[in-house]
Amino acid sequence: IMSTLTFAKGKLYVGTNAEFPPFEYLDKGEVVGFDIDLVKAIGEKLGMEIVIKDMAFDGLIPALETNKIDIVIAGMTASDERKMAVNFSNPYYTANQVIILNDNNSDIKTFDDLKGKLVGVMLGFTGDVVVSEMKDVKSKKYNASYAAIMELQNNKIDAVVLDSETALNYVKNNKGLKLAETSGEPEEYAIAISKKNSELLNKINTALDELKKDGTYEALLKKYM
Ligand code: ARG
Repeated sequence: IMSTLTFAKGKLYVGTNAEFPPFEYLDKGEVVGFDIDLVKAIGEKLGMEIVIKDMAFDGLIPALETNKIDIVIAGMTASDERKMAVNFSNPYYTANQVIILNDNNSDIKTFDDLKGKLVGVMLGFTGDVVVSEMKDVKSKKYNASYAAIMELQNNKIDAVVLDSETALNYVKNNKGLKLAETSGEPEEYAIAISKKNSELLNKINTALDELKKDGTYEALLKKYM
């Protein structure tokens, strides 16, 4: 059974949080990025029109569960905790958590060195979960990663823990920042779909396979990474 009306109408409502370059971000008010191109390519394979809904990251899974959107593409890690609430497609990208520091910081080299420090994390991101589980590390939670980056630059916090590709993006585009030479466990990004919609899950996995085979996926990696 099709779980949503929108799906039946040939439109696919896609939830994202456009504060995660290069996967999704705003460019002149428009939501763009790797994930957006990928989901549009999936839409083409399925013959469905993609409608992007930009919202808070921690509102994505609730929106999926209440049928406000059909799928989520948001650099979302297919974590065990989230798997209890939603289904995930096959993974389309592997990342890990890294530490962003001010250039002149020489005392933080590993995750262990975060002990006794104040660390910026984004509310509801896996980095938030990882840091919360570390002993003797205080975290400050932000709604948007650029806010955390600004506070780091102003020495209000000691470090920011964030996904590797996005962290690299911030370091490249902001002066005075670097990454610690360490990284956490691999995390796999996947598309989230309601548990009620297994037909859509299968279609998306098939489309992903095709996009990997026909070179579209590779071309998108080149364009954005
Ligand atoms: N991979 C991390 C997670 O799943 C961060 C994703 C953030 N994505 C975004 N579009 N804001 O929690």
